[in-house]
Amino acid sequence: MDSFLIRGGNRLKGAIEISGSKNSALPILAAALMAEGKTTLHSVPRLSDIDSMCKLLIELGVKVHRHDTGGKSEVAEHCALNGPLDIEVQDETKNEARYEIVRTMRASICVLGPLLAKRGKCVVSIPGGCAIGDRPVDLHVRGLQKLGAQFRTEKGNIVGEVHGRLKGTRMYLGGAQGPTVLGTINVMCAAALAEGETVLVGAACEPEVVDCATMLIKMGAKIQGHGTPEMRIEGVEKLHACEHRIIPDRIECGTFMIAAAITNGELELKHCNLDHLIAVTDRLEEVGVNVTRENGTIFVSSSRRLNAIEMTTQPYPGFPTDLQAQLMALLCLSDGMSVITERIFPDRFLHVGELNRMGGRIRKEGATAVIQGVKDLQSATVMASDLRASAALVLAGLVGQGQTRIDRVYHIDRGYEKIEQKLMAVGADIQRVSN
Ligand code: EPU
Repeated sequence: MDSFLIRGGNRLKGAIEISGSKNSALPILAAALMAEGKTTLHSVPRLSDIDSMCKLLIELGVKVHRHDTGGKSEVAEHCALNGPLDIEVQDETKNEARYEIVRTMRASICVLGPLLAKRGKCVVSIPGGCAIGDRPVDLHVRGLQKLGAQFRTEKGNIVGEVHGRLKGTRMYLGGAQGPTVLGTINVMCAAALAEGETVLVGAACEPEVVDCATMLIKMGAKIQGHGTPEMRIEGVEKLHACEHRIIPDRIECGTFMIAAAITNGELELKHCNLDHLIAVTDRLEEVGVNVTRENGTIFVSSSRRLNAIEMTTQPYPGFPTDLQAQLMALLCLSDGMSVITERIFPDRFLHVGELNRMGGRIRKEGATAVIQGVKDLQSATVMASDLRASAALVLAGLVGQGQTRIDRVYHIDRGYEKIEQKLMAVGADIQRVSN
């Protein structure tokens, strides 16, 4: 198992190329199950979660091929990104997502809608709880049931079946915590091949939902209202393959924005979309961070006098839960007392204990954390517990006095492409060691 060794204190300066979005690529890869012909996807990041999804697709009879760019970026000269990924369905008889894969990657649930709509049956192992709390899939199942699918639970699996074609209907898809991102995508995919019109009320508006809708439209789907809480999907009989570029990863971008802020640095973040980060920019500006943009590049700098703020995570366009831990690392060094409330995953606070081990002063009360700013963070040996919590520890390590060791960085490899190389290139003292 790899660890990171980070010697804190370096001011980050330079340019970083943002990769394609993990959370967009995962459901889009699953949606390609519904296409006839060869789909080509650009800007798919190289991450262990993407490898897991490709493995699942291969088990489902799909041929997956990653082109080599010979180390050259598709979008910019100074950064080696990845070659396109081809996906072609060759055998439609398989329909099972096994526990061994679902256990390592919850986004396996994304195959539920596409498999039901295209193959009439799916068996998906029920994802258990995870480090960020309970992650039910009841809304996915309810939405697909409303389209006419029948479900039963069998040996830890959800077994879904459709007799004939799914049928469009009007439905409400929200839950107690608001809309569901992957649930919306699952139902949208299934409705794209259903008979008649589906109206999805309470749909998630995240850019990743919009990206998947854009790709489905290229495949021949008839979708309107994506990016709003009410979507209309007129089912078609067939979907064809297409070529699509995944949107930039707004969470990776936000993480590097915070890296600039916490190190009192100056970063140029290339190939990103600031419109997707409007709430994040709003909070960072309140903290005292400078954010400007020019075309597809964001410039972030800070003079390291950080104001204490309040922040509540919300569905898009609100502040994303996936940047809550990273913002908390920054607020540890703010001048005064900050308050963070987590509305999406109320138990997503595993980073609190580890940040406190590095000298943070954070008190958790239910779904709220109260952060008393301190002058400095110290180095420590800490443990990565989930993807975004681990990113928060990396950020804290960049300013911690002395050498921080972060164990179990496989969590980070799930969602940040070459993070140590990108940070090293802008001046961080970080290295990966194998134990
Ligand atoms: N929920 C239900 N029932 C459901 C589905 C969701 O009650 O059937 C609840 C959840 O428990 C949560 C809320 O609804 O309280 C929202 O969850 P959502 O379904 O939107 O989450 P998700 O689609 O499973 C995606 C991202 C997460 C991100 C969330 C919220 C992917 C692969 N995952 O998960 O990303 O935190 O949306 O924005 O897209 C990450 O990248 O680190 C990550 C966890």
